[in-house]
Amino acid sequence: MSKIESAAAKQSAAASNRTVTLSVDGKNISFPVYDATEGQSVFDISKLYAETGMFTFDPGFMSTASCESKITFIDGDQGILRYRGYDIAPLAEKSDYLEVAHLLLYGELPNAEEKKSFNRTITMHTMVHEQLHFLFRGFPRASHPMAVMAGAAASLAAFYHDSLDVNDPAQREISAYRLIAKMPTLAAMSYKYSIGQPFIYPQNDLGFSENFLHMMFSTPCEKYTVNPVLARAMDKILILHADHEQNASTSTVRLAGSSGANPFACMSAGIASLWGPAHGGANEAVINMLREIGDVSKIPDFIQKVKDKTSGIKLMGFGHRVYKNYDPRATVLRETCKEVLAELGQINEPLLKIAVELEKIALNDPYFVERKLYPNVDFYSGIIYRAMGIPSKMFTVLFAVARTAGWIAQWKEMMEDPKAKIGRPRQLFTGSAPRQFVPLDKRK
Ligand code: CMC
Repeated sequence: MSKIESAAAKQSAAASNRTVTLSVDGKNISFPVYDATEGQSVFDISKLYAETGMFTFDPGFMSTASCESKITFIDGDQGILRYRGYDIAPLAEKSDYLEVAHLLLYGELPNAEEKKSFNRTITMHTMVHEQLHFLFRGFPRASHPMAVMAGAAASLAAFYHDSLDVNDPAQREISAYRLIAKMPTLAAMSYKYSIGQPFIYPQNDLGFSENFLHMMFSTPCEKYTVNPVLARAMDKILILHADHEQNASTSTVRLAGSSGANPFACMSAGIASLWGPAHGGANEAVINMLREIGDVSKIPDFIQKVKDKTSGIKLMGFGHRVYKNYDPRATVLRETCKEVLAELGQINEPLLKIAVELEKIALNDPYFVERKLYPNVDFYSGIIYRAMGIPSKMFTVLFAVARTAGWIAQWKEMMEDPKAKIGRPRQLFTGSAPRQFVPLDKRK
């Protein structure tokens, strides 16, 4: 039995002795309550349709737990994020991305021997098939790198026929390694291609984040030394973005995977979902917004526009479906942002000034206070990337690189859950009642 399989074999919801009773057309129906280790309990309505002939209606999943999971816990009111029980801040400060990937996949931080073996395994999979270079060359140079990434991730299925049997734990495991290892390589290739530079092969004596920066910024013409402060900051960013329970892209990965689709296709689906500006695309939108504001003196006008519902303008990097408090990832990133800008001699960077002032004003404005809108992870990440020399089109790509560990851990958890079923939501149909077909010559 593989390590991943054994860790996930313990799945089961803890049935409490409570029930929830609904009264439908005079008939009382009881549903079992399952208690969470922490956070909200749920009541199991899977028999609701059989009992009542009705569905529940919950657009945006405001009150719906779509699955049982042991990976990540969020308390949005308290501003808590934990991977496998560990608070995010000490993980970001003291751990590294590959340790966190191990934690997400296997449920435990690795010991020294496991760490060495895991790092080596990932490192041995960093290179991509040479044929992929031709796939990249088929894209226009001006393509958005997320479009390229969605295609490149899906295309991996064409190269790894030996690991497409999703019912084989060993094949699932090798796909997990391949995805975690190759996503940075594909990400750096998408950047290099966009600027017309040659692809840089991974260098396996470098750490995960160092190697990524090397593939992004070195050229065959001169020696490139990775700045350790930037490599550490990159690693922190990757840790902070590694998982976030059942967000839109992760739910997309699970839904795609629930049909038995291969993990490469599922990652591609996750990338597509992440791309949207309400999700991973927000970090790019934050930089565009700060640029548009342009100067601290313009902030009050901008805040007025945000508060005017007819303007359609949002304060990007603010607000979150789950966090109704400061996003704990933003707390870490605000400090990392200052460290990186100090290291690069950019502490007076105008965009940072605008961001800090914007945050101060918004946190004291009744509009944001009443709606519990706080900075989220994307508010500062873009400023860090920009200081590192990463163009804004690549920001969401970096989010995808980081989230790969979470996506694949969640996908595996689902695949190993004996209770998992194909995801097939139902609907409240409000379309036309039945009507007769009208031939073309009779249509008005
Ligand atoms: N600026 C201005 N008003 C906002 C904002 C914002 N950023 N976010 C929410 N609101 C208002 C919203 O208009 C609504 O007001 P009202 O009650 O008067 O109608 C109220 O706050 C509640 O918002 P909501 O839209 O019902 O909240 P939601 O949970 O559906 O949306 C969100 C969450 C993240 C999509 C939204 O806050 C948003 O669009 N934020 C900006 C985009 C952003 O930064 N996204 C990154 C999220 S973190 C990274 C990730 O997980 O991908």
